[in-house]
Amino acid sequence: MSVVVETKRVTVPEIIAHKNAKPVVCLTCYHAHTARLLDQHVDLMLVGDSVGMVMHGMETTLGVTLDMMILHGQAVMRGSKHALVTVDMPFGSYEESPQVAFRNAARVIQETGCQAVKLEGGSRMAETVHYLTERGIPVMGHIGLTPQRIQIFGGFKTQGRTEAEWPAIEADAKAVAEAGAFSVVLEGMAEPLAAKITHQIAIPTIGIGASAQCDGQILVMEDMLGLNPNPPKFVRQYASLGADIEAAVKAYATDVRARTFPGKENVYSMKRIA
Ligand code: KIV
Repeated sequence: MSVVVETKRVTVPEIIAHKNAKPVVCLTCYHAHTARLLDQHVDLMLVGDSVGMVMHGMETTLGVTLDMMILHGQAVMRGSKHALVTVDMPFGSYEESPQVAFRNAARVIQETGCQAVKLEGGSRMAETVHYLTERGIPVMGHIGLTPQRIQIFGGFKTQGRTEAEWPAIEADAKAVAEAGAFSVVLEGMAEPLAAKITHQIAIPTIGIGASAQCDGQILVMEDMLGLNPNPPKFVRQYASLGADIEAAVKAYATDVRARTFPGKENVYSMKRIA
């Protein structure tokens, strides 16, 4: 007799319902084992294009491809059952036209089984956000410091430091919300502006380096776990896995060199092989 285990993931309407109710807990995730560990504790996992920098050692996110996003999206879906999984649309896969964006986003949804995609850009991407959501693809927006425009910004620079910059960024937030996005990431944004936008729009704002005034928070998981030797200044470290891994590898290397494996043999026993 087979047992059917029903699993239910967090849905897009459930994320929207967090607005003015409870904070949305989000983290990035790129692989199956960590997806399993995060799954019951977060509302949303983002397979971010930061995967290029974190897991592939790239200098920026610009070299990340759609195939890379699909591969990591599949891994995260296999490792999780509960959280809503959103996959980033990489640079070059959606900006050209709403039609190109739809074709590529549909591939991401079909090949990974994830529930939503994220794309960067405010007013200039509103038509695309509308086009995708009208056709059944939930979209998370991303405004403020958008890393795919790093060459235009000239670096990872906080947005909205002066009030003169605010109206354009506020217009971006309103444009993606009105176009149908179910939430919007506010990255690298001055606190009073993030607070203002959070009050102005009807969908949850998810902050990263944008203060506690947002409706939810997202961090790159490796940054908060202490795996990044140079994490952004705003990141609180919740673990020191980098140091733990180094210490473990050092102990293992010592055991191998001494040919000692205290308590374990590190080889298949003869019984198991026989
Ligand atoms: O790619 C990513 O990890 C992101 C988050 C920083 C929001 O877009």
